[in-house]
Amino acid sequence: MRKPFLAGLCALAIAIIPAGAALAQSAGGLASLRGAGVEENVPVEQVFQQETRRFNRDYRQQPPLIPHSSDQYQIDLRANQCLGCHDWTNAGDRGAPTLSMTHYLDRDGREMDHVAGTRWFCTQCHVPQANAPALVQNTFESSASR
Ligand code: HEC
Ligand code: HEC
Repeated sequence: MRKPFLAGLCALAIAIIPAGAALAQSAGGLASLRGAGVEENVPVEQVFQQETRRFNRDYRQQPPLIPHSSDQYQIDLRANQCLGCHDWTNAGDRGAPTLSMTHYLDRDGREMDHVAGTRWFCTQCHVPQANAPALVQNTFESSASR
């Protein structure tokens, strides 16, 4: 009973050892994709700057693109810093466009004084704008050009 087991183990070892040696060899010349050590802080290059003019919408119902930077505004379960400027209670003071009525309708279409839960995570629909090439080749055209 022992013999076949040992023989099996030997065969396994013979198969594993060269593979292990090959791994160890390549680990010697390992380079990370960003070309820096893991603990090194590499600043990301801003390839596509955000454009601050307003872009036209590509179809009438499109959520307008965000014409200002947005990465510094926190949105989580409790806080929504976008509302600090865009909620109807603040927009006048901040000189920002007020959220349209659709942002204040509950799922049954009732009008509310606070933003709807379905509109809480603004960046689900609104994204910052940049003049960047399309990520995927496509034939999309604005419906205004038809
Ligand atoms: C400090 C105030 C402020 C904050 C905070 C702010 N915005 Fe704005 N936002 C503005 C102002 C002012 C404009 C108008 C800019 C213009 O007309 O060029 C604007 C414009 C927009 C527009 C374009 C509206 C249109 O009709 O074209 C969108 C969309 C928008 N903001 C979304 C957001 C989102 C999403 C957040 C949070 C991530 C946010 N904003 C946070 C002040 C703010
Ligand atoms: C489910 C998608 C969705 C979410 C979430 C959403 N929006 Fe919108 N938003 C839209 C659409 C669509 C429009 C354009 C049509 C309309 O006004 O309903 C719009 C319009 C706007 C406008 C322009 C209003 C106007 O009258 O010009 C602003 C500003 C805006 N949204 C900001 C925000 C902010 C800030 C949040 C987060 C509190 C947010 N939106 C969440 C879809 C969304």
